[in-house]
Amino acid sequence: MKIQRYLTPTAAPVSWIDLMRGGWGLFQGRGARARREREFARYFGVKYVFALSSGKAALTTILQVLAAASPRRKVIVPAYTCFSVPSAILRAGCDVVPCDVDPETLDYRFSDLEALVSGDILCIVSPHLLGHAADILRTKGIACRFEIPVVEDAAQAMGGAQENRWLGTQADVGFFSLGRGKNVTAGSGGVILTNSDSLGSALAQQCKQIPETSWISQVQAFIETVATAILIRPSLYWLPAGLPFLGLGETKFEPDFSLCRLDGMRASLLASWQSRLEQSNVERVRHSQDMCAALQTSLGRLGPTCREATPYLRVPVIFPSAKMKVKVCQVSAALGLGVSGLYPSPISEIPALRSTCGTSRFPGAQVLADRMVTCPVHHYVTHQDILNITGALQGVVDAKDRFAGNPSALPADSAPASKMKV
Ligand SMILES: Cc1ncc(COP(=O)(O)O)c(C=O)c1O
Repeated sequence: MKIQRYLTPTAAPVSWIDLMRGGWGLFQGRGARARREREFARYFGVKYVFALSSGKAALTTILQVLAAASPRRKVIVPAYTCFSVPSAILRAGCDVVPCDVDPETLDYRFSDLEALVSGDILCIVSPHLLGHAADILRTKGIACRFEIPVVEDAAQAMGGAQENRWLGTQADVGFFSLGRGKNVTAGSGGVILTNSDSLGSALAQQCKQIPETSWISQVQAFIETVATAILIRPSLYWLPAGLPFLGLGETKFEPDFSLCRLDGMRASLLASWQSRLEQSNVERVRHSQDMCAALQTSLGRLGPTCREATPYLRVPVIFPSAKMKVKVCQVSAALGLGVSGLYPSPISEIPALRSTCGTSRFPGAQVLADRMVTCPVHHYVTHQDILNITGALQGVVDAKDRFAGNPSALPADSAPASKMKV
């Protein structure tokens, strides 16, 4: 463990005033959830909003409502997505049907999606991975042949837009995550949005059955949120980052998560969510543009192509080999640069899903698991960090070129010290 400036891969702004509001909400939080739901509905221009304890809870609730009105149970999801997504599908009593992705767009490989749709499919979940907008209209076009609803997973894309429409509001129903490191955070939380009257009234009925979070759990969550807000700062993050048993940044498959309504503490902590979201996304757009420009200059084109004016949660870079990705992650961990992989494998390799997914292979998802790294662009990132990150990435590429004949001989520290300024 080395004391040094250490960036988290992702972070969302939470001020002392937000924390004080959260603490107050432990005692006086009644009514805060209904206020937030009204604000979300007004801001995103939708008729129905329901705030729950997490993005997973939101997705499970949506699937339960869809499944209650249909005999279908199969849910199509990208083969490369957050492990929370299959966790939520299993929790709702449905089956996971992975579809391969295109590493260039991070969206579905549409020829595969067309081959998978049938009268057995309950819905298609379409995520905006890392805030990179998916082609929801194209997915809807394919889905409508069998009257399949599309669920827009905007967990990583709150406040992003496409053709003047907010991400999360383009499909039949959408949801955001308010988890740690998302565009805006309450420690955890999830928001369902829909304009459909039939889904809106079914969701309202379903939400009435969902329990409230216990007071003890709210206190625990409050302590965790305060600790996270302090330790996530670059001057202190070396400490939790040096404790591997905390499992920071790990993506977990756990269908047995708690499913509750958004509680008074979290709803009160979100009182200033609009300004926090806007501030966070302005910084993300600026840093994403700077990062993409610097990567383009130093590395040339290592896909996918990042879009302008996008508040990326992290900027993706795909390396030519898995070995280079591993090297980049090692260099980043040593220097505290916040560069890391995203999910370790396609979801079909999660042991609990192997029997349902069979022996199908997902080459696009495998490319992302093996060769993609993500670069931080949150509000703590500075211009110097961006130069250090691109310098480190370039160092690994240059070292690979020098050792082209024998890549296993890549030196232990292939990031040129001259490019680092910490
Ligand atoms: C794409 C995607 N969908 C769903 C979720 C679930 O959200 P939560 O962590 O709030 O349960 C996440 C969480 O990171 C996610 O990245």
